[in-house]
Amino acid sequence: MNKGAFCFIACLWVTVSSAATENDTVYTPVVLWHGMGDTCCYPFSIGGLKSNIEKALPGIYVVSLKIGKNIVQDLENGYFMHPNKQVEFVCDQIKANSLLAEGFNAVGFSQGSQFLRALVQRCPEAKMKKLITLGGQHQGVYGLPDCAGLNSNTCDYIRRMLNHAAYYGFVQNNLVQATYWHDPLNEDMYKKYSTFLSDINNELSINDTYRERLINLDKFAMVKFLNDTVVQPVESEWFGFYEPGQAKIVMDLRSSAIYEQDRLGLKQLDEQGKLDFIEVEGDHLQFSWPWFKKNIVDTYLSD
Ligand SMILES: *[C@@H]1O[C@H](CO)[C@@H](O)[C@H](O)[C@H]1NC(C)=O
Ligand SMILES: *[C@@H]1O[C@H](CO)[C@@H](O)[C@H](O)[C@H]1NC(C)=O
Ligand SMILES: *[C@@H]1O[C@H](CO)[C@@H](O)[C@H](O)[C@H]1NC(C)=O
Repeated sequence: MNKGAFCFIACLWVTVSSAATENDTVYTPVVLWHGMGDTCCYPFSIGGLKSNIEKALPGIYVVSLKIGKNIVQDLENGYFMHPNKQVEFVCDQIKANSLLAEGFNAVGFSQGSQFLRALVQRCPEAKMKKLITLGGQHQGVYGLPDCAGLNSNTCDYIRRMLNHAAYYGFVQNNLVQATYWHDPLNEDMYKKYSTFLSDINNELSINDTYRERLINLDKFAMVKFLNDTVVQPVESEWFGFYEPGQAKIVMDLRSSAIYEQDRLGLKQLDEQGKLDFIEVEGDHLQFSWPWFKKNIVDTYLSD
């Protein structure tokens, strides 16, 4: 028998036997929701991250959400399918998936962050245990300085629409990014006319169901990218925003009305030690696998 053949059999045995022992742990399933300009499955993005998680936690069930029938639709829907519809679409998928019926942890990327939060608040079948968001826009954005890899004509177009007409019905209904446009100079307009974010943030009125479902989380961890050039203001990634009436001074979550009045249960979560604030150097979603493994997988996903 030559050396190659020996290695083939021996190595196979090692692989099989280690898989059998590592199998003993049954990990909580994980649901991933990608960001704008991305899809479920690109190997250089969330698709690659999914297989890294599967390798790190053998046997874990990971779902990377695809919004639509195929990758092209998934990409387009990130711009043009209203978040309310996206959340319903995902709620239906989760309802139909028995492997998620016992609960799951969720990791959101960029706008996928606030969509996952809407999911836990609105979808009773989504038994989310931990919610981890990376570069999310929990308090919206006021400005889109760098549209994450879009060509500059499209980017300029989207920016113009947002600057001048974000709260017009047509734009709210047809451009995803308008639904989390938050103009601090026009807080009342935002509260009244945002068709998504001001609702899930309990801005105009308090939906007790939203509060109760969010308080039910075991953990809500938010990652902020210190050198983010896409999200304005960056503090939105930690649920902070501009002080109302101006667009310079930034207020952190704990000083804001949403927290002080505990409109969404965030104060309660915080007092129970269930709110984590994580920061990492780098631009929007520019993290390395070793960082993700240590700070997200090992910390939140490995039980
Ligand atoms: C390992 O997991 C697979 C699939 O989840 C299962 O079919 C198999 O029986 C498990 N093996 C052990 C030793 O638990
Ligand atoms: C609160 O949210 C739940 C879940 O989405 C919804 O069914 C209910 O109608 C909402 N209540 C109010 C008063 O809007
Ligand atoms: C990123 O931002 C932090 C905090 O503002 C700063 O200390 C650091 O030097 C920046 N890093 C880079 C690479 O720009």
